[in-house]
Amino acid sequence: MNAKIIGTGWELPAYEADNDYLSTIMETSDEWITERTGIRKRHLAKEETTTSLAAGAAGKALKASGLKAEQIDLLIVATITSDTETPSTACRVQAELGAVNAVAFDINAACSGFLYAIHTADAFIKSGIYKNVLLVGAETLSKLVDWTDRSTCVLFGDGAGAAVLTAAEQGGVTAQAIGSDGSRWEVLSCMGRSNHNPICQEQAEAGFLQMNGQEVFKFAIKTVPQCIEEALKQAGISPEEVTCFLLHQANKRIIQSVAKRLKQPEDKFPMNIDQCANTSAASLPILLAQMDEQGRLHPGDRLVLSGFGAGLTWGACVLEW
Ligand code: ACO
Repeated sequence: MNAKIIGTGWELPAYEADNDYLSTIMETSDEWITERTGIRKRHLAKEETTTSLAAGAAGKALKASGLKAEQIDLLIVATITSDTETPSTACRVQAELGAVNAVAFDINAACSGFLYAIHTADAFIKSGIYKNVLLVGAETLSKLVDWTDRSTCVLFGDGAGAAVLTAAEQGGVTAQAIGSDGSRWEVLSCMGRSNHNPICQEQAEAGFLQMNGQEVFKFAIKTVPQCIEEALKQAGISPEEVTCFLLHQANKRIIQSVAKRLKQPEDKFPMNIDQCANTSAASLPILLAQMDEQGRLHPGDRLVLSGFGAGLTWGACVLEW
């Protein structure tokens, strides 16, 4: 049995901040951001939370799938911005939806989170343990970035995307290549709360997201084509046979570079980075759900999904729509 997507949904905060707005609150410009990244605007949470965005996207995916909330066996939220340290966002989404029979937990794999969630869902479905799985990627990165650091804060946005997967004899996820390299964790990190037990003397503030942008860039343009090629090899198909490549929306130049390395036309790499910026674990499911809504995905289409991020983590999967 393969894990096959049967419904998708997405949700973005109402408030939109374009590059011109950012240039009124920090030393930056629309020209710098657009040329370096392809980002024109991002959605920022005001009333919304990671939980509300996740539940919104998940509810739409569930409706599109035709399943009832009680039929979901497993509910995973990929996020690095849970509203609560505990419980998980997944448990709170479970409560919002009434998915009373689901086992619910979060995955923390930064921008690769949705790929890790697919990997997990596929394993549970293949083993026969679960049949119907609801996956969500949801983030409010705007609470994690340092708004005085123009080299990171302009890159990120908030949002959520979701997909319902079910056990299918044909199609669905056919190959995956996934990995982690914890030795390079400092390239992109966000420190959590420090220990304030009675024997600790020093009390550091909780940190903000910090990133060595150029190192991440180099890592991405090398690793993403490699893991896509590995997944394609496993699936036994060539890049030419892929209908489209959905890549984590971190930087337009990274996507263009991957297209070049795979010797594939750029129009096979759909993008929404101009509208949404980098929404970390939410970026792939938002793109997927928007394409689904726009009628751009057809039965039999071969899709490649690929992401990379903090950890360092990366992944690619091949699936038949
Ligand atoms: N506006 C104007 N100028 C800026 C800004 C800004 N927002 N940010 C930085 N600059 C300046 C710098 O200060 C520097 O000035 P200097 O030359 O006077 O010192 C200059 O622009 C160039 O800065 P660089 O950092 O060298 O810019 P670069 O071309 O490398 O682009 C960027 C930076 C866009 C971050 C790029 O490195 C990148 O996209 N990296 C990948 C990031 C990524 O993909 N992250 C995804 C993972 S996220 C996750 O997993 C949670």
